[in-house]
This record gives sequence, structure tokens and C-alpha cells, in this order.
Amino acid sequence: MKGVVLAGGLGTRLRSLTRITNKHLLPVYDQPMIFYPLQKLAEAGVVDVMLVTGGSSAGDFLRLLGDGSRFGLESLNYAYQEREGGIAEAIGLARGFVGDDRFVVILGDNIMECSLRPYLEPYERQESGARVLLYEVENPSDYGVAEMDGDSVVSIEEKPRQPKSNLAVIGVYMYDGYAFEVIEDLEPSDRGELEVTDVNNAYRERGLLKADVIEGWWADCGASIDSLLRANLRVARMKGWKEEDTP
Ligand code: G1P
Repeated sequence: MKGVVLAGGLGTRLRSLTRITNKHLLPVYDQPMIFYPLQKLAEAGVVDVMLVTGGSSAGDFLRLLGDGSRFGLESLNYAYQEREGGIAEAIGLARGFVGDDRFVVILGDNIMECSLRPYLEPYERQESGARVLLYEVENPSDYGVAEMDGDSVVSIEEKPRQPKSNLAVIGVYMYDGYAFEVIEDLEPSDRGELEVTDVNNAYRERGLLKADVIEGWWADCGASIDSLLRANLRVARMKGWKEEDTP
């Protein structure tokens, strides 16, 4: 299975921190944000990875991450997204790299406590289709929201006003080559982007979208300044930092 990490976008929800630099280069405790998804993939045995980024900081990723060997990757490839065309457009840029393999996409601002391995294994056993990961949240309207029947997704809506569940679709998507066929035919949404939720819905309409609810803590660090701060504190505490010991 190949890995695709998305690190583009303007990071508008994190202004002014992202005026000059890409959001995924910002610190989360003792590491740049982008280290976390790369470590997650390597630790789960996904060692051929493509990073998709864009904008004026793109070159910084090459200098920071190099060939990916420091994370235990066998190859780290790069693609450049010319405009803010959305998550699905960015995934489409990995088509040549992925070839006929299956792949897992991870959004570069998603940090999770759990290993990905227990969720990749069922996907490897799954005959066809896609698999996404869910996390129970108090504010589902800020995310893609899934309604489940067993481990099958029966509906999925992007940032709904009246969410049908409290299960947010986190930024980890497991796909086969069908995703690229869907992306080819996608139309931009009202915000002018190709939406990953539309890719997931194409699988769902064929009865081919499964999901698991993850264990442990998850954060979309790019959602707001507050979520970035919270992720910093969570990661710091997980790594043994204690506020009372800090001068
Ligand atoms: C994106 C997806 C959304 C998902 C979220 C997870 O939203 O569109 O479905 O729940 O990532 O991080 P964004 O953060 O780009 O608004």
C-alpha cells in the first residue's frame, strides 16, 4: 500500500501564523506538524509516500524532509499543486505515483494517538472499495459527518448544519484506483474546490464505503488557532511535559 500526505492549502483559519509559511511547517510541540503524519505512515509500514504541497513554501518541504529516510521511509516523492483546488484535486496528483496499488491518504494537519496499522489491515482484507476513519466529536458541523449501519457508511455530508451523527470523518482515507476515476469527473463545490466528501460519496453510492471509529485522541490542528494550541498541549503532555515543572 502506498501513502499520500496532503500539505497544501492557504491555512486561512490559522492566519496570521500562515501569512508567510505553510501551516504544516508550524510547530506541534517539539516537531513541525508535517512530521506526525509521516511518522504515522512509516510506523504502520507504509514506506513509499508522496507529499503533495503548493504555494511559496513548497521548497521548504524538500529541505526539511529530504528523501524521508529519517522517518524510515523507503521513498518520499513530491507533487506540486498549482492552485487551491481542494483535497480531491490534490489526491488526483498522486495518480502516476500510486499506479495500480491501493493507497492511504492522510491530511498533513491531522494528528492521532492511535496506530494506523489496525485500520489498514481490515482494508487490505476488504475485497474492494474504500475505507475511512471516524472519531466522535462534540462539534460535528465542523467536519465531514458519517451515518453508519454496522461498518458500512450510509450517508456522508460535508460540514452539515444538522448532522445526522456525531461521527466526524477524519483525514485518513483508504482508496483503490477507482478514486482517480471519480476525481477525473468531479465538479467543483460552491467553494470552488474538488471535495473529498464527493469521492467518498461515489464509493458509498455503490455500497463500497466502510468505516471504523478510531480509539484514542485525534486533532485537526488546522481547524483553528485554538485547535492548534490544544494539539500542542496534548502532544506535549503525551510526551511527558508538565506545566508545573516548566520555569
Ligand atoms: C477536511 C474534510 C472534512 C474532514 C476534515 C478532517 O475538512 O473536508 O470532511 O472532516 O478535513 O480534518 P477541512 O479541514 O479541509 O475543512
